[in-house]
Amino acid sequence: MSQPALADPALLSLDLDEEIRRLKRERNAVILAHYYQEGEIQDVADYIGDSLQLAQEAKRTTADVILFAGVHFMAETAKILNPDRTVVVPDFAAGCSLADSCPIEPFKAWRARHPGAVSVTYINCSAEVKAESDYICTSSNVKKIIDAIPAHQQILFAPDKNLGRYIMKTTGRDMVLWQGACSVHEAFSLQKLIGIKAKHPSAKVIAHPECEEPILDVADFVGSTSSLLKFVQTDAAEEFIVVTEPGIMHQMQKRAPEKRLIPAPPNANCACNECPFMRLNTPEKVYLALRDLQPQIEMSEELRRRALVPIERMLALS
Ligand code: 13P
Ligand code: SF4
Repeated sequence: MSQPALADPALLSLDLDEEIRRLKRERNAVILAHYYQEGEIQDVADYIGDSLQLAQEAKRTTADVILFAGVHFMAETAKILNPDRTVVVPDFAAGCSLADSCPIEPFKAWRARHPGAVSVTYINCSAEVKAESDYICTSSNVKKIIDAIPAHQQILFAPDKNLGRYIMKTTGRDMVLWQGACSVHEAFSLQKLIGIKAKHPSAKVIAHPECEEPILDVADFVGSTSSLLKFVQTDAAEEFIVVTEPGIMHQMQKRAPEKRLIPAPPNANCACNECPFMRLNTPEKVYLALRDLQPQIEMSEELRRRALVPIERMLALS
């Protein structure tokens, strides 16, 4: 899908914040933003949350238009849950390395090799993969979903092997894991993390479960983006080393201004701890998407209905 040109000099003279608020009123639109979005986008959003909270909000909203500032699978989930709304995204190319690591045909073949097994699939996947899954889960509710499946059932868990391994450890449940991963959460350096921790011995290490096992092993707390945020707000520690996408630190700092936050560094000398997909979204693109109601998320009704089934099962258990 083509993207609107951003070279328009007229955009430079606009008060984007004001224009976005005006368009929201005119279009009866709501902006849902993930915690990994840049601060400026979070500040114009009506609702900020993790994958589960955003799906719940997308289902609940009565707005005519949902502007989803996140990545493609999140906006697709909003459309699946609330098909009568117009769902627009700032940049159609904002995908997800984890969702890309699980293409539909190999996924179907994997399921076929395990007849009788129940598949639990992380929400970071395409609508096609959702439609072939028994349950969807997010990092907030994965334990609840796994615990709800009878002990004798074999579980196929896709696509994140790191989250899968972590849940196997915490639930004691054996699962067959798809070998996918998030390129952002696999970019953190254990060596550098240990070095930073040595300089800040009283800081608590908090990590997203998409990180690799050695990182999770040294973390004081592991959880979804919303639980990491809550931990910073409620834990007595004054310093935290944050091992996830640093966009989350905007809300952490807003809600707990007295706390010191230290972003964990990636392996290479790069900004590869920033999600390159989430960061494709900009306030300019949010404005243009609301103005033009493009690009829109669309899918066949047949696919939507099939993808809805495992999402509804997840929401019922959440
Ligand atoms: P959360 O559901 O914890 O917000 O995670 C979403 C995600 O994409 C993490 O990389
Ligand atoms: Fe996907 Fe990783 Fe970006 Fe999350 S941080 S949206 S899992 S690429």
